[in-house]
Amino acid sequence: DMWTGDAQRMREMGISWVRIAEFAWCRIEPSPGKFDWPWLDRAVDTLHKAGLKVVLCTPTATPPKWLVDEMPGMLAVDARGQPRAFGARKHYCFSHGGYLQQAKRITQEVANRYGNHPAVAAWQTDNEYGCHDTTLSYSAAARAGFRAWLRVRYGEVSALNDAWGTVFWSAEYRHFDEIDLPNLTVTEANPAHRLDFQRYSSWAVAQFNQAQCSILRTHSPGRPISHNFMGFYTEFDHHQIAKDLDIATWDSYPLGFTQNFFLSPEEKAHYCHTGHPDIASFHHDLYRGMCTGAYADAPAHGRWWVMEQQPGPVNWAQWNPAPLDGMVRLWTWQAFAHGAEVVSYFRWRQVPFAQEQMHTGLHRPDNSLDQGGLEASQVGRELAQLATSLGTPYPIRNHAAMVFDYESLWMTQIQSQGKDYNPLELSFRIYSALRQLGLDVDIVSSYADLHAYALIVLPAQTHLHEGLLQRLKNTTAQIFCLPRSGSKTAHLSIPAGISPLEELAGIRVQRVASLPPGVQAGQLDLQGKHCAVTRWFEDIALAGASVEHALHDQRALVTRRANVRYVTGWLDDNTAWQALLGQAAQDAGLKTQTLPADVRISRTGNLWFVFNFSHQNVEWSPHEPAQQLMGEKIIAPCGVALWRIT
Ligand code: GAL
Repeated sequence: DMWTGDAQRMREMGISWVRIAEFAWCRIEPSPGKFDWPWLDRAVDTLHKAGLKVVLCTPTATPPKWLVDEMPGMLAVDARGQPRAFGARKHYCFSHGGYLQQAKRITQEVANRYGNHPAVAAWQTDNEYGCHDTTLSYSAAARAGFRAWLRVRYGEVSALNDAWGTVFWSAEYRHFDEIDLPNLTVTEANPAHRLDFQRYSSWAVAQFNQAQCSILRTHSPGRPISHNFMGFYTEFDHHQIAKDLDIATWDSYPLGFTQNFFLSPEEKAHYCHTGHPDIASFHHDLYRGMCTGAYADAPAHGRWWVMEQQPGPVNWAQWNPAPLDGMVRLWTWQAFAHGAEVVSYFRWRQVPFAQEQMHTGLHRPDNSLDQGGLEASQVGRELAQLATSLGTPYPIRNHAAMVFDYESLWMTQIQSQGKDYNPLELSFRIYSALRQLGLDVDIVSSYADLHAYALIVLPAQTHLHEGLLQRLKNTTAQIFCLPRSGSKTAHLSIPAGISPLEELAGIRVQRVASLPPGVQAGQLDLQGKHCAVTRWFEDIALAGASVEHALHDQRALVTRRANVRYVTGWLDDNTAWQALLGQAAQDAGLKTQTLPADVRISRTGNLWFVFNFSHQNVEWSPHEPAQQLMGEKIIAPCGVALWRIT
């Protein structure tokens, strides 16, 4: 009885898209083969009558109880061998053939019913693949699937034995059917075994998604298909999954991510109510590079949305602070500044019962408008006012690229060699340093076409595969490689002979060492500032490169050969990364700037967006001739200014 009023208010607030039904299986099919459509028909029709467009979801993230009871083997199994129980969500195993058939069946039913409904303008497959640690499942189905996948990959078991180095600890296999999953071993399982299991599991996610996409394409032609990816999540290769999608979307919870991830206690406190300024944009740029651009023959930039925007405090982080008033609006504009077509809030109304009752919505449970709703309405008005000035967000093509490669991340995560060597954190720190230099960044796959970039940064490219190596060797762009680049083969072992890194950067790594907190590998002065190397350091020999920056004890920190730089250690101070990256950017001919603390600038063509994440007023305007379209010269805390460079 609330829906008609809801739909009308959505229109009034400037909302045009509504995503529904992502967890609705038990209402769509309350018992096997018995469908109850009228309620969903009414929902879709109500939205349609109000002129709203619907993103309809396949409900496969929440298989109902009757299905689990009928098919208990479909449950995902954790690394201790325990089945994940019914009662929350995402309890299925990607490898289970029976569940895959069920997922296809329900997708087909939903697509048959609504595929050509005029309100249904896009699809979402499932919800957040891998959420709650569900990409890897150690089930019997996964074991069978993994063996079959290995057989195809290696052909002969002897090839697998060679690739994995199973002679070590007497682990050679005689048949593929002897191979188990890499859990429950006495101490760490063979790293190449783990890497291949990660690859297999990622492939299984892609197969699962692809099965739904092909049904949707057949029964709902012309409607784009999306999936909502997560933040700081790397368990499957998103570029592979995105190949089957038309729009990459992601779920943006800046305050939750600030509390739950690797930031220091000081950063968590400082950004408690605003979120770290680079968390959302890191993912915006990552997912913009997703749906296309991952492969050399694809167009440069993909369509992307924010499918879930944090509207207020959430329920799932370690602590759930409230955003400062203004942040929901700022986050929304930040997404548009990075090319989002749509920003959708999670959720419309706070639900007063069950697991997420403490999660805010645009409305409170009593249906009164909450702060997030006020700010969403404000953006709605601003978008209407600015419609002609904004134009279309495409194409965005920046001059700086950061390469993001899931397989390489897995390699370093599997053998981190130092408890706090987190390649995802390093990628984020490097991205953040680039953003603090005022640079706009494309985050691209290691298979992307790199020829148009002036600066290419490789923060965590553990495996420099042949295609990438050739593209890097053939570019005149400035190349900036971080520790461990090219240190492993595709099978997670140390390259024999001349390594790809030596070919690229003219250095040989001779010894690596990780360091516990409180211990430094050395110190140096960079642009008059004292910095320390922590966590990781490599001793190298020069093989054509020269030393650009050395520690006080003369060991190399940055080497250079022609356009390629290599860094041998981890710098814990972000201004040190800025100093090094600033030099590379300058050599690349890119203009950097010194921005006030916690201010970021994002450029889309001649539109310049300036965001104030700080708690103070900030005065900022471009040096170039420009017209201000939104905001003032003095930007208030949580404020946004928009300029058109004339
Ligand atoms: C997302 C998820 C939503 C909801 C939300 C809460 O991860 O897709 O269904 O749980 O988090 O913040």
